[in-house]
Amino acid sequence: MEAGLYTSPGATAARPERVVLLSSEKPGHLPAREGGHLSSQPQPPAGDDLYFRQLLAGRDFALRDVMASQMVNFAYLIGSRDTGEAVVVDPAWDVDGLLDAAEADGMKVVGALATHYHPDHVGGDLFGHEVQGIARFLERTGGQVHVHKEELSWVGLTTGVAEKELSAVEGGSNLRLGDVEITFLHTPGHSPGSQCFLVRGRLVAGDTLFLQGCGRVDLPGADPEALYHSLTGPLAQLPGDTVLYPGHDYGGESATLARTREENYALRIESLEAWMETMGGAPA
Ligand SMILES: [Fe+2]
Repeated sequence: MEAGLYTSPGATAARPERVVLLSSEKPGHLPAREGGHLSSQPQPPAGDDLYFRQLLAGRDFALRDVMASQMVNFAYLIGSRDTGEAVVVDPAWDVDGLLDAAEADGMKVVGALATHYHPDHVGGDLFGHEVQGIARFLERTGGQVHVHKEELSWVGLTTGVAEKELSAVEGGSNLRLGDVEITFLHTPGHSPGSQCFLVRGRLVAGDTLFLQGCGRVDLPGADPEALYHSLTGPLAQLPGDTVLYPGHDYGGESATLARTREENYALRIESLEAWMETMGGAPA
């Protein structure tokens, strides 16, 4: 599949001048549905005010979009059942389908969280295919779109949404919906402003970490050494019973970090030197 190409008209040295849009898939990933879909997602226990849904593109929404089906992106709805308010993580494909799914659950989507700037997560041109993304989200809801501060220009460039329409966040920030608190973790490497979201023992990880493998580090803005430090730093500190919810179905829908640490090669590399050898390049 051929990559699309973006050129920033007003690029500065601090901004991405050119964004080559490729699949988020990393060589060596299991493009896999072979991890099998769970017949039912683990849901918060009855009486829990947390609203949490994982939706797979091509299966749960974007049903007639062949490219969405091929990309196997996950989107997430997270909110408070008490207040009826939710946010959507990575609204890229079939944004109306995602918002309608929340509405059918009696939830109002008031904001969006972007794990990173790639068009299969926030919208834009992907191989010449226009992905709706946050532009459609803003049009329909007017809600805030939370993007890591390192990535405002990248998201603007990819989606065509003005930076002033985005809400900048940083690692350690929190977003509260009723009593549900979502914590932002800055996990650079796959991209400069990649971020994960932690909510009540669930880690929504975007393309930083999959059940099998991790995000590729050869796309614009990627930094293999930074990804090593993200995986061995903040993510390594999380308890083993934290449940990983990835940005793509590469090897499965969810698993505890304890199990992922046992089975995922990306978490079993013992030194930065070995990591750089595996990922390509030498430590800076
Ligand atoms: Fe990505």
